[in-house]
Amino acid sequence: MDIKSIRKDIEKEWNLFEESLKGALLSNSDLLNSINSYLMESNGKQIRPLLAILASKALGEPGRLTISCAVVSEMIHTATLLHDDVADDSKFRRGKETVQSKFNPAASVLTGDYWLARALTLIVNERDMVVMSYFTKAVQELAEGELFQMQKASTLDTTEEDYYRIIAQKTSSLFIAAIQSAVSTMSSDKRVVECMGKYAYHLGLAFQIKDDIFDYAPQMNTGKPAGGDIMEKKLTLPLISALNQAGEDERREMLNAVREAGPDDRELAQKAMRLVEKYRGKDVAQRALEEQCDMALKCLEVLPDNKYRAHLATLTKYMGSRES
Ligand code: IPE
Ligand code: IPE
Ligand code: MG
Ligand code: MG
Ligand code: MG
Repeated sequence: MDIKSIRKDIEKEWNLFEESLKGALLSNSDLLNSINSYLMESNGKQIRPLLAILASKALGEPGRLTISCAVVSEMIHTATLLHDDVADDSKFRRGKETVQSKFNPAASVLTGDYWLARALTLIVNERDMVVMSYFTKAVQELAEGELFQMQKASTLDTTEEDYYRIIAQKTSSLFIAAIQSAVSTMSSDKRVVECMGKYAYHLGLAFQIKDDIFDYAPQMNTGKPAGGDIMEKKLTLPLISALNQAGEDERREMLNAVREAGPDDRELAQKAMRLVEKYRGKDVAQRALEEQCDMALKCLEVLPDNKYRAHLATLTKYMGSRES
């Protein structure tokens, strides 16, 4: 799949998005400016703004407010990554050192706060309470999801149901805010806004399941090290599925190993990989991922049949594919 050619079809909006993102971040602090330049050197996939703009284009000609929704979603996303890397003590992201490792954890948290505040300021300037409420809801859910995940990392009893609750809150929430806010600026049809919210929900779940599968796939080049989740005591779908299949002794042994492991315990990661391999945990997770993508695809039928909807369908299918 060629993201560049998809972007080409929304070139005008994409340029406005990039301009607005850069402009929002100028500050008076030298340290903050150097952290921001460091961050802007490697952009990430910018999937949330891409989806928001495509969904909007499928419905007409997006104006400034719609582009702001896309910008705000990427800014809040970056803020959550700056916080997430401190919470997870992660050293690498987007193929290079994280801000918390290169600068320090406090600088990462404070830069995250800055991006969050700048994002919300963009919406305040638009004076749009509907758009505002989409994003404040997402930020609240994100924090709740991360904290619930933290709670489960100490009790180590994450069920499949808990897992879906966590990923809905920490990942789908921002997909929903990005897409639904942008769509709501383009259409007053309740059914369209609702269905696109459902689309975002399922796609967000799929996106996180895929990220969690990749964490058990050291051969994939994601720009982040594999094995991190279990070293953070995070039980994700590949391992939850394997544990559900494993015998009682095997299960107890694995959970004891997680409980007793110190930080950065590569042996623990190997042990978890072996269990996931033995019980085909990645295959189970892959099927769950495909199910979410199928449900997302169906929701797209609410949009008019045009090339922007087709691009969204391509991206959705791509998300469900095994290799990429
Ligand atoms: C990473 O998000 C965090 C998850 C929700 C899994 P992305 O994979 O969108 O990160 P970048 O922006 O492309 O680096
Ligand atoms: C997603 O979870 C983080 C957020 C939604 C904030 P992860 O902790 O798995 O994300 P990565 O793998 O570090 O990008
Ligand atoms: Mg992380
Ligand atoms: Mg995390
Ligand atoms: Mg991850």
